[in-house]
Amino acid sequence: MGCKLTRYKLLLTLWDMTAPFMRRVAWIPEPGGPEVIEIRRDAVAPPSGADVLVRVEAVGLNHVENLVRSGRYAVSRSFPCPAGIEGAGVVVASGPEAGLDPGTRVAWTAGFGCCATMAVLPASILAPLPDGLAFEEGASLAHAALTAAGLIRHCPVPAGAAVLVWAAAGSVGQLLVAQLAARGVRVAGVASGGRTAAVMAAGADRAVDRSREDVSTAVRDWCGGSGVAAVFDPVGADTYRTNLGVLAARGCLVNYGQLSGALPEVALEDLMNAGSVFVTKYGPKARVIAPGDVGKVAADGLRTAAAAALRVPIAARFPLDRAADAYRALDHGPQGKVLVLPHAG
Ligand SMILES: NC(=O)c1ccc[n+]([C@@H]2O[C@H](COP(=O)([O-])OP(=O)(O)OC[C@H]3O[C@@H](n4cnc5c(N)ncnc54)[C@H](OP(=O)(O)O)[C@@H]3O)[C@@H](O)[C@H]2O)c1
Repeated sequence: MGCKLTRYKLLLTLWDMTAPFMRRVAWIPEPGGPEVIEIRRDAVAPPSGADVLVRVEAVGLNHVENLVRSGRYAVSRSFPCPAGIEGAGVVVASGPEAGLDPGTRVAWTAGFGCCATMAVLPASILAPLPDGLAFEEGASLAHAALTAAGLIRHCPVPAGAAVLVWAAAGSVGQLLVAQLAARGVRVAGVASGGRTAAVMAAGADRAVDRSREDVSTAVRDWCGGSGVAAVFDPVGADTYRTNLGVLAARGCLVNYGQLSGALPEVALEDLMNAGSVFVTKYGPKARVIAPGDVGKVAADGLRTAAAAALRVPIAARFPLDRAADAYRALDHGPQGKVLVLPHAG
C-alpha cells in the first residue's frame, strides 16, 4: 500500500493543480426514485480555503439518501444536486487552510455530492483511514461511526446497565455494540442467522437470533426480567410494540431509522402503561456533534472498528455508470453495504 501511495504522490506532482478538473458524477436532476439519477461530466474548480480535492475510491450508500431524494423524510434538499454522502479515497490537493498532504487516505460522511470520480470536500469532515481498513471498509463505516457516536451522546447509558440493539450486525449496529461494550454497558444485540457471530465479535453479552428466537422472551430472560435501560432501534414500525415491552421503568426507546416503516402514532397512555418510558427519534438535528467535529468523531469510530477488527459485509458493488441500480438495490433490504466504485470498469 505504501509503495502504491508513493507512486501516486509522484503522479500528483505532475498534475496542474490550478486548472479546473473534469469528473464524472451521479447527478439528481429532480426529486424521485433511483430512475431520476443520471451520469454527467462536469468541471470542478481546484480546492481553496479549507477544502480538499479527493479521488473517490468507494462510495457507501445509505437508506436515508433514497428517503430524502423521494421526499419521504423530514430533512429535505434542493434539486438538482449530485448524489452521495459517504465514501473513502485519497487526497489529491488541499486548499491552503486544509493541511492535508496529497496521498493521505481518508474516509468521510456528510460529503454531499461525493458519488463521483473526484470530489471537493471540507477538511473538517475527513477522517484519516487507519492502516487496517481498506477504502471499501472506510466507505462502509464512516457514516455508521458518526451515527453510533451520536446515539451514545444522545442517550448516555451508565456502565453496568443493560441495553438492546436491533440490527446489531449492520454497520451502525456493530459500532454501537463495540462502543457501548467498551464503556462497560451490557448489550443484547439482535441479528438473524449466522450474522449473530458478528454481534458477539463486536462485544455483545448476548446475541439474539431473530430468525429463530422470540426477541421479547430472550431479552427478558437475559436481563433477569427487569427490562433494559435503553433500546437502540433503526427498524421502526415492526419492533415498536416489542420495544415498549422490554424496556425497564423509565427506560428510553431511541429510534433512528425506519427500515420497516415509520413508528406508529406514539400514544402517551401506552408509554405510561409500559413504565412511563421515553421515546425519542434521533437524527442530525439532535446537535450532539458539532459540524466542525464530524471528521474527528468519525476518525474515533474508524479507529474502534480497526482495533476491534469489525467487518461489515459488502452486499453489492456497482460501477458509477450503474449508480441508479445501486440506489435501487438499497430498497431491497440488502444484508450489508451497497457500494459504488467510481473507477471500476
Ligand atoms: N438517524 C440517523 O442519523 C441515521 C444514521 C445512519 C443510519 N440510520 C438508519 O439506520 C438504519 C441501519 O443502518 P445500517 O447502515 O446499520 O443498516 P444495515 O447495515 O443495512 O442493517 C440493516 C439490518 O437491519 C435488520 N433489519 C431489517 N429489517 C428488519 C426488521 N423488519 N426487523 C428487524 N431487523 C431488521 C437486518 O439485519 P438482521 O437480519 O441481521 O437482523 C438488516 O440487515 C437505516 O435505517 C438507516 O437509515 C439513521
